[in-house]
Amino acid sequence: MRKLLALILGLTVSAYAQKFEGLALTPPMGFNTWNTFQSNIDEMLIKETADIMTKNGMRDAGYVYIVIDDCWSARQRDANGNLVADPVKFPNGMKALADYLHEHGFKLGIYSCAGPRTCADYPGSWGHEFQDARVFASWGIDYLKYDWCNTGTANAPDAYKRMRDALHAAGRPVVFSICEWGTAKPWEWAKDVGHLWRTTGDIYDSYDGRQGWSYGWKRILDLQYSLVEGSGPDGLAKFAGPGHWNDPDMLEVGKEGLTFAESRAHFSLWCIIAAPLMAGNDVRKMSPEITALMTEKDVIAINQDKLGKQGFRVTAEPGRNLEVWARELSNGEWAFCALNTSSGEADITIKWEYFGWILKGRTYALTELWTKQSAGDTSKHTTVRLASHDVALFRLKPLSK
Ligand code: GLA
Repeated sequence: MRKLLALILGLTVSAYAQKFEGLALTPPMGFNTWNTFQSNIDEMLIKETADIMTKNGMRDAGYVYIVIDDCWSARQRDANGNLVADPVKFPNGMKALADYLHEHGFKLGIYSCAGPRTCADYPGSWGHEFQDARVFASWGIDYLKYDWCNTGTANAPDAYKRMRDALHAAGRPVVFSICEWGTAKPWEWAKDVGHLWRTTGDIYDSYDGRQGWSYGWKRILDLQYSLVEGSGPDGLAKFAGPGHWNDPDMLEVGKEGLTFAESRAHFSLWCIIAAPLMAGNDVRKMSPEITALMTEKDVIAINQDKLGKQGFRVTAEPGRNLEVWARELSNGEWAFCALNTSSGEADITIKWEYFGWILKGRTYALTELWTKQSAGDTSKHTTVRLASHDVALFRLKPLSK
């Protein structure tokens, strides 16, 4: 009788597949090959990346997911229909690479696609979801980015649920990164499916440029509002929380198309909007300034705040070339970020009384996190001189009830 009960219970549980809970309780951090390397990837690059991230402090700052994007596999499946790593790029196979990364304190991410072919025309998982999930589990994969090319008229929630169920059935906890570009509004249905979902087309290293489906980071930031019809001032923010994040795409910090100020602003605002922090530059060749920027602990702490509330834009004043963004933090604290949107240096004044609806009569002590300077408190206006597209990033601690 007991055995029968256990069997029935077991069947009931497995009939309700779900995403792996308890993962990505703060936005995932790591490195992804796509933005810099595209198909130019191999085992050596991944190992060198891990080694440098160990030495330069990135791993210890939290960047632990090393994700191999598109173009890692052979062009065709093997005779049994299994995905196989490209034998030239990854001569020792993915299992050996996963072991190497695990031994060095990292986790390994990989990429597949809901269609029969990936965006770069490698085999996708359509019709092979359960088989591929088992293969990924056998390799020790910890993170799956799952793209949306060549899906025809497929239904996005169904396709992503199928892979979620496949990963669950394979039994190895995997962070599931939905890369559907926001077309089917994943913020409305993906909370129980994946741990993060892309909200837009691809990012590239520009402030606010556009090239077809690719956007500069400031354009992507603006899209976090216009994607939600009739949304309040917080746009997509309300859909995010621990274990389920909006993904405005990976970092372009340190890439050629951005000034240092634009890299710093991009990073600061990705922290404010609780975005995954996936480095997209060549970390083997980064300047000391960019390394310092990407490993700045007080700024990363904003991104990784345990409360898990995504920040939002509190004011945009084109006439004053100013945008102000805010994020609620744990312990009654806040982060505020002021962005100079003009093409020249400017004195930017933050009038805290504008934000009475956030600060609610309390006075807060201010620390600017990039300069580490205390900056008075919110009882007075704060003026900062900012280079074009640069930011000041404040942490606010309550002084009074
Ligand atoms: C799509 C995704 C990108 C990248 C490429 C790979 O464009 O949005 O992030 O994964 O595919 O081909």
